[in-house]
Amino acid sequence: MQSIREISPDIFYVGASDRKLPTFENQYPLPRGMAYNAYAILDEKIALMDTVDISVKEQYEQNLVAVLKDRMPDYLVIDHMEPDHGAFVGEICGRYPELKLVGTAMTKRMMAQFFDFDVTERFVEVKEGDTLPLGKKELRFFAAPMVHWPEVMFSYETTSRTLFSADAFGAFGALPGALFVDEINYKQQYIDEMRRYYANIVGKYGDQVQAALKKLEAIEIDMICPLHGLLWKRQDMDCALSLYNYWSKYEPEEAGVVIAYASMYGHTASVAQKFADMLAQKGVKKITVLDLSKVNVSYVISEIFRYSHLVLAAPTYNMGLFAAMHNLLYDMQALNVQKRKVVVIGNGSWAPQSPVLMQKMLEECKEMEIVGAPLVIKSALKENQQGELEALVDAVAQGVAE
Ligand code: FEO
Repeated sequence: MQSIREISPDIFYVGASDRKLPTFENQYPLPRGMAYNAYAILDEKIALMDTVDISVKEQYEQNLVAVLKDRMPDYLVIDHMEPDHGAFVGEICGRYPELKLVGTAMTKRMMAQFFDFDVTERFVEVKEGDTLPLGKKELRFFAAPMVHWPEVMFSYETTSRTLFSADAFGAFGALPGALFVDEINYKQQYIDEMRRYYANIVGKYGDQVQAALKKLEAIEIDMICPLHGLLWKRQDMDCALSLYNYWSKYEPEEAGVVIAYASMYGHTASVAQKFADMLAQKGVKKITVLDLSKVNVSYVISEIFRYSHLVLAAPTYNMGLFAAMHNLLYDMQALNVQKRKVVVIGNGSWAPQSPVLMQKMLEECKEMEIVGAPLVIKSALKENQQGELEALVDAVAQGVAE
């Protein structure tokens, strides 16, 4: 059954949601599924705006039939070639032999890598500022390299002031029936999965996101149509732009503390819990405590993008760092996490290596400030270490209050 929606005169949502796949990119949990957005602009010429992941192919096909009726599309604009949007491009080309593909030079190169057919005859290569008239409507293109792949561009429909923003402003999660953020209580129900998507998928490329945001300052936008998640109307857009500004500058959204720990038998866990209890007693209200052996690292990364302070606690293992903590720090480095104040707590029963190793990995992240000296535990925290712990808690509580 088709499920399309006119989002602006002659601009249609034709994407679809999947709730079967357990993960995105075969690694990020999708407890609420995933939306693969696509659009169609009907004018004298018809432009399809990206396609969808293969998992929702059937729904997309039905939507295309419904939106096109007996017309043929003239263009397929490829803002992003990653297979969660581009896997279906080959099939679309087979179905519509006259269809022209519109994208950047890099998109063309990637087409040849992903597919075996020659696109030379049907590819319309566009660059920054190029336009594509469709009749009454017109598309203008902005290069947005590395948001999230090098070939990415944004397309802007100038008469309706609609921005097709590729992965930017997207989120994890299937569409909840609503299509626009203002159709739900989005600040409570949506931002967490938008942040988790940004931090893990685009987080590494803050400078490039900043460059893209600068370009957007020069245009009037009434609607943002990302390739995942809900759509943004003008009245809510400041929220999205402001969050993207924080995240891409690696600045915390708010003062608060993430306590991320790994623990084999509970001794390190009890220090983490104690840290949280003491912080709360000092009036810190925003604290999140996460067990790295239980919580997927993508959620931890997301919370780290949100809050100003971080407490890391982990045991030594095989004379190295417990794997779950190593994994988190590796991800933090890979995603360019920076500008956080961090407390290090390490445990080891005979040769505690974890504090040194954690500190070393943190030093490879930019502008990380280690708060105080690392707290070294030998098997379990002892009464005579209470002062050391309190000093660290005080420093964090004070930092959060500033
Ligand atoms: Fe939604 Fe970078 O693909």
